Amino acid sequence: MSAHKHVAEDAVKALTTFDIAKAKGSRKLTMLTSYDYSIATLAEQSGVDMLLVGDSMGMVMLGRPDTISVTLDEIIIHARSVVLAAKRSMVIADMPFMTYEQGVSEAMHTAKRLLQEGGVRAVKLEGGREVVPQIKALVQAGVPVCGHIGLTPQRSAVLGGFKVQGKTALAAYNLVQDALALQQAGCFCIVLEAVPAQIAKRVTAALDIPTIGIGAGPHCDGQVLVYTDMLGLYDAFVPKFAKQYAQVGNIIRDAFRQYAKEVQEGVFPGPEHSFTIKDEELVELDNLLK
Ligand code: KIV
Repeated sequence: MSAHKHVAEDAVKALTTFDIAKAKGSRKLTMLTSYDYSIATLAEQSGVDMLLVGDSMGMVMLGRPDTISVTLDEIIIHARSVVLAAKRSMVIADMPFMTYEQGVSEAMHTAKRLLQEGGVRAVKLEGGREVVPQIKALVQAGVPVCGHIGLTPQRSAVLGGFKVQGKTALAAYNLVQDALALQQAGCFCIVLEAVPAQIAKRVTAALDIPTIGIGAGPHCDGQVLVYTDMLGLYDAFVPKFAKQYAQVGNIIRDAFRQYAKEVQEGVFPGPEHSFTIKDEELVELDNLLK
């Protein structure tokens, strides 16, 4: 068997936007946020379809009150580490606040940096019909775009906070119109955040492309969670929709406490964690030091 054959057999096939689109109706899609190499490696190994370098990092990684201050440079730094871990999973980066709203050329510049410097394969941006020109231009230029409607955290200040969206007939109607416009503009999937389950069901049925829900009930074509929420790693605020699959924060805190205790008691480091040199070298050194 040739070396080339080996490489081909070992290579993991990276998911494409076509694979994501094709999944609608046949299997549920999974997306998790990832902001660094170690977590992205675990997510990749677990078979998650999409890794989102989300601007949620501003809150859960950088300790800020919202996502507004996250910069393009910050997303790029984190994206570079996530893409190194991703083999099968598709890495998508958020376009941060005020890096696409001003028009097509700003959006193109942002996407160029995210793909060329960040190494991601797709971008996500928040908004409905008002960002259609940007999405059309990006897709025409060859940039896969994931939409994001419902609760759009970058606009939480004008939405009155982190609130469920689409709760009236008119608001829900607008949500469906936004979703259709994003599909028409060329999005390959759409994140639906914090909308009633019945509305997410209708949006999902109205679209040919997959919906990825977060706080949008069970009828979406896939789900996304912020990984720190699901692991109990960020307790400043745990949204109602975030199921906690583990309390990793407690495990980490216990390990840190044990480490500090063992250092104070002289238990760590033990001989198995230390390096040595030969006795004769030590004797010679002690002679030199005399
Ligand atoms: O930034 C983020 O993590 C997101 C998800 C909540 C979808 O946009």
